[in-house]
Amino acid sequence: MYTFRKFGQVTWRETLGLYSVLLGSPVVLFSTLLSLPFVSRNGKSRKRYVLDMVLRFICDSLGGHQMQYFTGKDEVTYRGYVKKLKQKPDIELVAGVDGAPDVKLLWIGKKEAKKVVYFLHGGGFVLPLMDFHLPFWSEVMQQAEKKHGGLVRVAILEYTLATVAPFPTQLREASAGLQHILHSGIDPSQIVVAGDSAGANLTYQLLQHILQPRLSTVAPIVVPSNVTSTKLGGAFLASPWFDLLAEKPSIYGAVQAKADIATDGFLNHCAEATLGGLSPEIDVEARKWLLGKLSPVGLREKVVNRVLVFGGGQERLIDSILEFAETMKTEFQASGAKGERCEVIVQPNGTHDDFLYDFLIGERSEETKRVVEWVTEVFN
Ligand SMILES: *[C@@H]1O[C@H](CO)[C@@H](O)[C@H](O)[C@H]1NC(C)=O
Ligand SMILES: *[C@@H]1O[C@H](CO)[C@@H](O)[C@H](O)[C@H]1NC(C)=O
Ligand SMILES: *[C@@H]1O[C@H](CO)[C@@H](O)[C@H](O)[C@H]1NC(C)=O
Repeated sequence: MYTFRKFGQVTWRETLGLYSVLLGSPVVLFSTLLSLPFVSRNGKSRKRYVLDMVLRFICDSLGGHQMQYFTGKDEVTYRGYVKKLKQKPDIELVAGVDGAPDVKLLWIGKKEAKKVVYFLHGGGFVLPLMDFHLPFWSEVMQQAEKKHGGLVRVAILEYTLATVAPFPTQLREASAGLQHILHSGIDPSQIVVAGDSAGANLTYQLLQHILQPRLSTVAPIVVPSNVTSTKLGGAFLASPWFDLLAEKPSIYGAVQAKADIATDGFLNHCAEATLGGLSPEIDVEARKWLLGKLSPVGLREKVVNRVLVFGGGQERLIDSILEFAETMKTEFQASGAKGERCEVIVQPNGTHDDFLYDFLIGERSEETKRVVEWVTEVFN
């Protein structure tokens, strides 16, 4: 039986583990630095290679509760970031639908903006928002504003993690957040829904939920009647985590798995929390939803104009991502309509969520630039 815990609650053993990882990280850093002249960096810069190895060590050694304890809630990370930018926090409480608890939207950008990115962060449903998510979205905002002259705003949903409450809590919250944005006078065509990793799985669930609500415990999304088109402008699925049961290790086998930041150990840990919290007897509906392969048929016609799928060529999940991308492409190929399309970017030698780490070290790969550009293109 899985035990839910409060956010960031750690046992004394986990506290010890946390400190040993903090002490161990400099060791990994130095040994990686020493090994630099002798290793193949797969085309990565030295800086990026070292960063990947350290992140990989941390990711593989820490569990969800420890990471939560270490980083604090989404709101803490967000507040730290806006403070650095010398801006005021802009936090909006959204009433939960049908008596569900309130959810928080953490905003960056100006209130008057009529173009909105709705972001569902990743982290295997066990990690909170990370520092490196935010500079990426700031850059997207700046580029889009430069291109179109119109203001852009980003809403980050602080959703409940799977270590705290089981599915479909996360979908219910994601749905309440989107409904709120839709009712705040933003045209659906000027909304991009985006998620990385587990956040991309949640994004896909949200699209499916708009297409056809199938969970009795999640209220359908009601679109205001005065909008010109009910379809969303775009959906960006970055390194989507669909393979919760780790059924598809990469065709490249051990080599790929060795290079990725999201390690097998980490992914298994996340799956255990996400699925472990669902009882096969009680949560039949939620389990079926979460594990069922949901067909994208209908998404193009009814839900979203453009889709971008990103995958790192060397990530542990690449096979399942490519399989998913194919079904999405097929769905969008059927279309002759202007502007509707699905684009897939596979970054050669890329890791899980590759473009996000670029922002930690001030580098921009060609693929990262394309990702930023894609979001700016959806807004017109
Ligand atoms: C990918 O890694 C291989 C093997 O290390 C290397 O030869 C190649 O140049 C890299 N490709 C890119 C685009 O960096
Ligand atoms: C739709 O109506 C609501 C309330 O009357 C208003 O606040 C909103 O701006 C309108 N939305 C659009 C896209 O015109
Ligand atoms: C999320 O991941 C699960 C588990 O692999 C997958 O079956 C499911 O299709 C994904 N969820 C959605 C709604 O796509």
